[in-house]
Amino acid sequence: MTAKDIRQKYLDFFRSQDHKVIASASLIPENDPTVLFTTAGMHPLVPYLLGQAHPAGRRLASVQKCIRTGDIEEVGDLTHLTFFEMLGNWSLGDYFKQEAIAWSHEFLTGADWLGLPKDKLAITVFAGDADAPFDQESYDAWLKLGFLPDRIAKLGKADNWWGPAGQTGPCGPDTEMFYWTGEGEAPIEFKPSDKRWVEIWNDVFMAYNKEADGRFTELKQKNVDTGMGLERVATVLSGQSDLYQTDLFAPLIKELETMSQKLYQDNLKNFRIIADHIKAATFIMGDDKGIAPANTDQGYIVRRLIRRAIRCGRQVGINLESWTAKLAQTVIDEFGQTYPELEHNAKFILQNLHEEEMKFAKTLERGERELIALSSSQGISGANAFDLYQTYGFPPEMIKEIAAEKKLKISLETFDEDFKTALDQHQNLSRTAAVGKFKGGLADNGEATAKLHTATHLLLAALRQVLGEHVLQKGSNITAERLRLDFSHPDKLMPEQLKQVEALVNEAINQALPVACSVMKLEDAKSIGAMGVFESKYDQEVKVYTVGQANLPFSREICGGPHITNTKELGHFKIIKEEASSAGVRRIKAILN
Ligand code: ALA
Repeated sequence: MTAKDIRQKYLDFFRSQDHKVIASASLIPENDPTVLFTTAGMHPLVPYLLGQAHPAGRRLASVQKCIRTGDIEEVGDLTHLTFFEMLGNWSLGDYFKQEAIAWSHEFLTGADWLGLPKDKLAITVFAGDADAPFDQESYDAWLKLGFLPDRIAKLGKADNWWGPAGQTGPCGPDTEMFYWTGEGEAPIEFKPSDKRWVEIWNDVFMAYNKEADGRFTELKQKNVDTGMGLERVATVLSGQSDLYQTDLFAPLIKELETMSQKLYQDNLKNFRIIADHIKAATFIMGDDKGIAPANTDQGYIVRRLIRRAIRCGRQVGINLESWTAKLAQTVIDEFGQTYPELEHNAKFILQNLHEEEMKFAKTLERGERELIALSSSQGISGANAFDLYQTYGFPPEMIKEIAAEKKLKISLETFDEDFKTALDQHQNLSRTAAVGKFKGGLADNGEATAKLHTATHLLLAALRQVLGEHVLQKGSNITAERLRLDFSHPDKLMPEQLKQVEALVNEAINQALPVACSVMKLEDAKSIGAMGVFESKYDQEVKVYTVGQANLPFSREICGGPHITNTKELGHFKIIKEEASSAGVRRIKAILN
């Protein structure tokens, strides 16, 4: 079964159970200041898990693009990936444990579906603690489906409780399905600590909300949130243990063998890191938000991924020009049909990879000169190597390599320790900053956010009036304190233009315009001139927010919300910063007071 077959079967199965298929959301979260990337299929659905009505109904399914950077250093082994695809189905206050478990079981084992042998499956359920009781219902449901008690482990919060990475938000006990990947028959007794049991699917029963003070309160509606990693399932179904040999990665590995003239088997770790990192960078840049390599936020992750891939490429002896772009082209060829945005943005992706390779080469040259200078003055130490790393992105392992190659003066014995001390100090500082920055909380759908969200629509409309129709939204990020809008426009804004934009927004506020929401087909939304990111692939229903008169609105946008209901609630709008975001994209930060 190819990855394409698996995606198709999954969506077909849940369609047959009355689910609406929704398109993968962007990898860049729209209104969530707590994380840089979409990390799970539930992530774009948070407002709906908290009770807002979803335009497509109460039963949803999707294949969602995800990025997780927490384990970036572990990539290269057999389980960690930066980019992955998550198959998921949701109940928004509709069905609950019985149906979710029965359908998971049927999809995994049914002859028309994945057809996995039941005797290679095992289950975990939540054991219960002071916050929530033992999940008897899930346990009994699995027993009823024929699983023996030996194959159902009961575990605590660390294993069988799931909520998004933020400090607050919807969460609950989960039941996880494991598959035996060892040789021969699976042991009768399931030991979750045995790594040959691999988790393939997670059904979360989201019945709680974690509050800012750490309490778990019951949600208005009981939801189901499931997630199955496509790469893992593809690996299991292919009967091998190496996910890089499934059709999701094999073409990239093959290309790398050609480019390096080396064998994958002799260079496992470097090949895997390159394939993972370039695939992830391609998907991030291939999103319609236009994220390019940069020194902050998502752009910084892209830069780090590309540069690490280039270093690994050097280690396996690849020295072709623009080879990362060539590899990205293979990613686009392989995934462009499923994710057409990769094809639309192919030029942007390839151009940025090409430029980043050049920039990194320059960095290396400059760093080398600095190293030679250091060597002939105080000598190279872990501490001054960290400065080089900070300033030029010059990696410590390369510093050691070059020092050896050029016979430079370097304190090798204390190098690693000194470098680490400097790095730890720096990370402590930036972590403190990050905590401050992200204190908004994932599920912060509070009033402040709703107001800033509506203000963002007014700002975009005003920019289009002042600058022209070429202005399109390229990204948005809202914290409890401010809004940030990225939009297409070639030049810096004049002070006069900024004033005009501010005045237009404040005028719209003073006119006390109504903000109305209606649900309609995407095509209809487009035909009445609604702005928005038209990523959707399916004939799906969207929410359209109209500010002002229906026949001559001040603003009309496709958007998930939340919004306030009248512009008079917004107070006074003020732009606090205008700057470049990336080539052809400007960024405005603004507040309400
Ligand atoms: N959201 C759940 C997960 O990511 C399903 O595992």
